[in-house]
Amino acid sequence: MKVLVIGGAGYIGSHVAKAFLKAGHKVTVFDNLSSGLLMNIFDGEDFIPGDIRHPDDLDRAFSRGFDACVHLAAFKAVGESMVQPEKYSVNNISGTLNILNAMCAHNCRYIVFSSSAATFGSPQYLPIDEKHPLNPESYYGFTKLEIERFLAWYDKIKDIRFAALRYFNAAGYDPEGEIIGLERNPQNLLPITMEVAKGWRKELQIFGQDYDTRDGTCIRDYVHVSDLAEAHVNSLSYIDRENKSLVVNLGSEVGISVTEMTEAARRVTGKEIPARYVGRRAGDASALYATSALAKELIGWAPRYSDVDTLISSTWKVYQKYDKNPYA
Ligand code: UD1
Repeated sequence: MKVLVIGGAGYIGSHVAKAFLKAGHKVTVFDNLSSGLLMNIFDGEDFIPGDIRHPDDLDRAFSRGFDACVHLAAFKAVGESMVQPEKYSVNNISGTLNILNAMCAHNCRYIVFSSSAATFGSPQYLPIDEKHPLNPESYYGFTKLEIERFLAWYDKIKDIRFAALRYFNAAGYDPEGEIIGLERNPQNLLPITMEVAKGWRKELQIFGQDYDTRDGTCIRDYVHVSDLAEAHVNSLSYIDRENKSLVVNLGSEVGISVTEMTEAARRVTGKEIPARYVGRRAGDASALYATSALAKELIGWAPRYSDVDTLISSTWKVYQKYDKNPYA
């Protein structure tokens, strides 16, 4: 199929674009390069610079004719979304409506959307399945949930079929080493830990050690970005084959604590990685992990690279390529 990967120059988007290319699809990347990188665009992909906030950019792109698009162009910083919701309203909400309207105008019938475990909010039970109540605790999570609801209406009214993939904690890098772009100003645990291992940061701050968990630190479900990428390809086949939309969780089903991740990072990198326990970060749930049984059943998905060692070693290999922080 002809697939437009919106946000395909970003960290997750580049892995998704690669997976579609490998599966034999014709891939075009649409990206405004606000956080995406030109170095993340592969030979064999077309590139259209553009911004989802500008309907004309989308009109120009979709007029090339696509069977499907993948939408990975939302802002994703939870903390920022609680300070500047306007930014998330315009980009995540209006930007997605612009995409859906361009799809309608140009007869593109399929969309695979990066949703998030942030749609659930604090867990009422674990592991989290797709029937878990949806009570996002951040404006970011709210935008992802609202988008899922828009998708459901466009499915009903305009016959657009969608896959909403609720990622848990995306981590790791392309095990084949072809994607080596570092995120600018990373906010997530693993890249921050790597920056400490490289000596680019003095220490890792561990947010809270008084949670009701086995070692007092938060438990999360880290899932390899190449596993996530494969789920996008499988999902598109599913919605095409079944003519049915899809909402699934994507997690490794394994809960890892911050302390466990830090110790594993020390072992895999052989670096000291100084860490200090500090206070809790606002809005962090104590434990979050998924059941991905539905993804397994419907799209035949099973993580292959989401064990802790592969998550860390594939990331560390990328960081080792850099003598200094490219953004310092
Ligand atoms: C959050 C979102 C997730 C989103 C992701 C994108 C929720 C429930 N989850 O994940 O949907 O896709 O952000 O950025 O809103 N930690 C430290 N020190 C650090 C950094 C992190 O201790 O310097 C801890 C956090 O407290 C947390 C864990 O590491 O327990 C993972 O944090 P992070 O990587 O920021 O992801 P989440 O907040 O779980």
